[in-house]
Amino acid sequence: MTRPLTSLVRPELLEIAPYVAGRTLEALHREHALDQILKFASNENPLGPSPRAIEAVRAAAAHMHRYADAGAVRLREALATKLGVTPAHVVPTCGSNEMILLATQAFVRPGDEAVIHHPSFLMYPIAVRAAGGVPVLVKGADWGIDLEGMLAAITPRTRMVFLCSPNNPTGDIVRAAELDAFLARVPDDVCVIIDEAYHEFAHDPAYPDAVRLVDALSHRPLIVLRTFSKAHALASLRIGYGVMRPELASVFERIRQPFNANGMAQEAALASLADEAQISRSVTANRDAMGPLADGLRALGVHVRESHGNFLFCRFAVDCPPLCAALEREGLIMRPLTAFGVDPHYSRITVGLPEENARLLAALRTLLPAPVTRAAH
Ligand SMILES: Cc1ncc(COP(=O)(O)O)c(C=O)c1O
Repeated sequence: MTRPLTSLVRPELLEIAPYVAGRTLEALHREHALDQILKFASNENPLGPSPRAIEAVRAAAAHMHRYADAGAVRLREALATKLGVTPAHVVPTCGSNEMILLATQAFVRPGDEAVIHHPSFLMYPIAVRAAGGVPVLVKGADWGIDLEGMLAAITPRTRMVFLCSPNNPTGDIVRAAELDAFLARVPDDVCVIIDEAYHEFAHDPAYPDAVRLVDALSHRPLIVLRTFSKAHALASLRIGYGVMRPELASVFERIRQPFNANGMAQEAALASLADEAQISRSVTANRDAMGPLADGLRALGVHVRESHGNFLFCRFAVDCPPLCAALEREGLIMRPLTAFGVDPHYSRITVGLPEENARLLAALRTLLPAPVTRAAH
């Protein structure tokens, strides 16, 4: 009898459920031969990237036979200027996902624990498991971020804590005073990751400036994650970064892949950073479209949570997987949250352009049972 090849693999890796991405336009096109497909599933930016970024990619494409600047020097400098840190504080990565993997590789030894609020971004537990660690998920009441519960879950084996704010998929934020009080109680030898993938969309005055904490709390490992995939609309190029103390950044210089930030991504990110007007247009478009979308959903009997991101955490009266399948047949991709470990009544809806949201609402109106109104009682 031959030995299964996977028997040679570290057994804990076989227990990892693969990351489930939102369905793509291509997949739906293949399955249903539909042309007019709209995606509300991956928290992308429906406005698209800055025209300057597209131009920069075109120009950089002519040089794709050359390796890119391995140190991403100009990008680091531009980010450092924007963030008020030094270039040595910034580590550009292949999407912020790579920073999650690198940080986990650096801090988690087999058997170590990482505390993560639940539900949150699926890659945190995957990265912890891949490093041989144990993700400790802390579920708050009503899906909130339970900071007290997270503190209580910290043990001598805890090496990392993940905080996602605005949180994917709930849209919750951790406010400045809460964050300061929380960090004061997390032991100094625990690395804290603050994932701010959606920070541009958060306009609550109490939303903290987490980058400032990197130097303010220089005695502790703290990494702020940012990405160009969301407000900057460069998801396909895979470019993100971590902000941290230079001594910590130097660790990732040792273990990251050379050329992890590809040439076209570096140029597009630089061009997008320089086009602040495009980012404010994206943020404003999101803010303007979110309210009417939430109202429209509520009118259909959907419970919609307040969100600080570019997506809505929604509770439907019906099970979402069949509802999402029915929507897909109409060319609309919505994301059930079962892969996030949330019950089947929940979905996450990325805010689209007003006309796109109107199409989603119209389809939901035909698919959902009429809400029970007061008048009906
Ligand atoms: C909270 C959060 N962090 C990180 C990422 C990864 O983004 P990227 O690797 O595209 O930068 C995502 C993507 O959806 C996310 O929602």
